[in-house]
Amino acid sequence: MTDTVDDSTFETYFSHAPAGVDISALDRSRIPRHISCIMDGNGRWATAQGLPRGEGHKAGIVSLREIITACVRLEVEVLSAYAFSTENWSRPQAEVNLLMHLFAQTFIQELPLLKRENVRVVFLGDISALPAETREVFERGLAETAAHTGMVLALAVNYGARAELARAARRLAERAVAGELDPAQIDEDAVAGELYTAGLPDPELVIRTSGEMRLSNYLLWQVAYAEFYITDTYWPDFNRWELVQAIIAFQQRDRRFGGLSKKEEA
Ligand code: IPE
Ligand code: IPE
Ligand code: MG
Repeated sequence: MTDTVDDSTFETYFSHAPAGVDISALDRSRIPRHISCIMDGNGRWATAQGLPRGEGHKAGIVSLREIITACVRLEVEVLSAYAFSTENWSRPQAEVNLLMHLFAQTFIQELPLLKRENVRVVFLGDISALPAETREVFERGLAETAAHTGMVLALAVNYGARAELARAARRLAERAVAGELDPAQIDEDAVAGELYTAGLPDPELVIRTSGEMRLSNYLLWQVAYAEFYITDTYWPDFNRWELVQAIIAFQQRDRRFGGLSKKEEA
């Protein structure tokens, strides 16, 4: 990955669509505000070509970079990406170490790109528990992009939805005990306000690669009404064109939110 200046526009970034992708089917006025990716299948991608799993993680970062640029060009408000779960600590220590080092190394490398694109980085999860190298780089990125006004990139690292919900409950209880909050006032907004995603719109489209049909402890509260798009493609092969296909599929869904579809109401 190099820090080459990408001065593409939407038109140039999405020119030369491959066969089977009809970019004119994309309604640019109805892009999901928040797209979330469960980036899965790095290990299987590597194994399938006889490479060590770490090569899959490296290739996965190249995909994330492309999806970040694509979402900026699509004017997505928030892109979130599940990079490391609270359960991923149970992997062999060597893989955990490699991932943590890779996160630190690539984050430093990509920070100029994020700055140029006016991206604000936030983290979902407890980054204070990460190895010092990774934590320090992440904290630097947080500080150096805090004033940016473009797309929010929410990286879920050491994230687990159950840990997040337990933390929110703890924080609300602490405020109640301190007399700052009346328990009778704890409503959905109060809970949402204590989550790592406080202030961000809920994901409207959740994409999971590698064909797995589960959430794996991801954003349990926030995905209440998200649309899911699952593709068999492994994350390192996921690209801007598959993203476009996912958004087109999203735009064709009938989102009823418990009510009736627009057709039936009329
Ligand atoms: C996703 O790819 C990346 C992380 C969870 C860190 P995996 O490493 O889970 O790849 P598979 O699922 O084993 O193929
Ligand atoms: C989910 O993938 C977590 C990330 C993508 C970071 P996993 O590979 O850890 O999920 P499971 O174990 O297949 O459910
Ligand atoms: Mg996996």
